[in-house]
Amino acid sequence: MPRKKIALIGAGMIGGTLAHLAALKRLGDVVLFDVIEGLPQGKALDLLEAGPIEGYDCKITGTNRYDEIAGADVAIVTAGVARKPGMSRDDLLGINAKVVTDVANHLKSHAPAAFVIVVTNPLDAMVTLMKRVTGFPKQRVVGQAGVLDSSRYRCFVALELGVSVESVSAMVLGGHGDDMVPVRSYCQVGGVPVEKLIPADRLEAIEKRTRNAGGEVVALLKTGSAYYSPAAAAIQMAEAYLFDKKQILPCAALLEGEYGVRGVYAGVPVQIGAGGVERIVEIELTEKERKEFGASVDHVKELVSAMDKVLGKN
Ligand code: APR
Repeated sequence: MPRKKIALIGAGMIGGTLAHLAALKRLGDVVLFDVIEGLPQGKALDLLEAGPIEGYDCKITGTNRYDEIAGADVAIVTAGVARKPGMSRDDLLGINAKVVTDVANHLKSHAPAAFVIVVTNPLDAMVTLMKRVTGFPKQRVVGQAGVLDSSRYRCFVALELGVSVESVSAMVLGGHGDDMVPVRSYCQVGGVPVEKLIPADRLEAIEKRTRNAGGEVVALLKTGSAYYSPAAAAIQMAEAYLFDKKQILPCAALLEGEYGVRGVYAGVPVQIGAGGVERIVEIELTEKERKEFGASVDHVKELVSAMDKVLGKN
């Protein structure tokens, strides 16, 4: 059976970490693409040289030429700029919209069958743009946000209770911005609703920290944004697709009536398998969560309008 091919568009902090994880997890052959000469080639060579120690023998190629991604099964897009302290994800809109348009045009011609996972921020607008420019079916264009935000929520709940992160299940839905929605009513620890274990004021604080978790890392790093956790999240989505896992994961998917929303990308639980986004799972939210989800979706719509202005569409 031929190996799967994973194209990583953007060989920066997340791109390099994605390549490392893809090799360690034996997902397939990896092609790292970037516009900076030498950067993807250098990272690819460094990773190849770790192969004998780690025991992976996949091909890892670094390139500045799009024809090398031809026939990719999965494309994970991190091309663009990351935030610096004091910036919101939305501040990246202008520059990253142009980058993602360029990337989408190349994916369309060189990797027309790929399952595309967008990571570049502001995520909800960038995944909308990717879908529009490629014209790929909605099942094959998805945004990475919810897996990461949910992992952050799970991490903070586990720290609070001193339990394993594996015992905590949680979902963060809506847009990948400051108004994302940690869904408390579905957060459980060993099957027990979190509200029975953590008092409401502490849960408020944990949810606030979850919403600001990306910013917390940016403020500490000062030179860029988080990369280990976004890469881990995107790899989990790629694995679900490549191994037809039919895993339910919170991802930014195109809503066409689900949750009462039409024509907007937002974070919802989806089933990922060989068919890509095979199903959108509709869960019942509390009144408060429904309102918060609505506000978050409104923010995504505003962001997409702002993007259209930047791109000269309005
Ligand atoms: N085509 C391909 N790659 C590009 C392009 C382009 N048109 N423009 C920029 N890049 C590359 C840069 O050269 C850089 O190597 O994208 C890479 C981005 O890497 P980093 O700056 O290290 O950013 P990273 O931390 O990986 O984050 C990437 O993901 O989570 C989001 O907010 C984050 O938007 C940011 C993106």
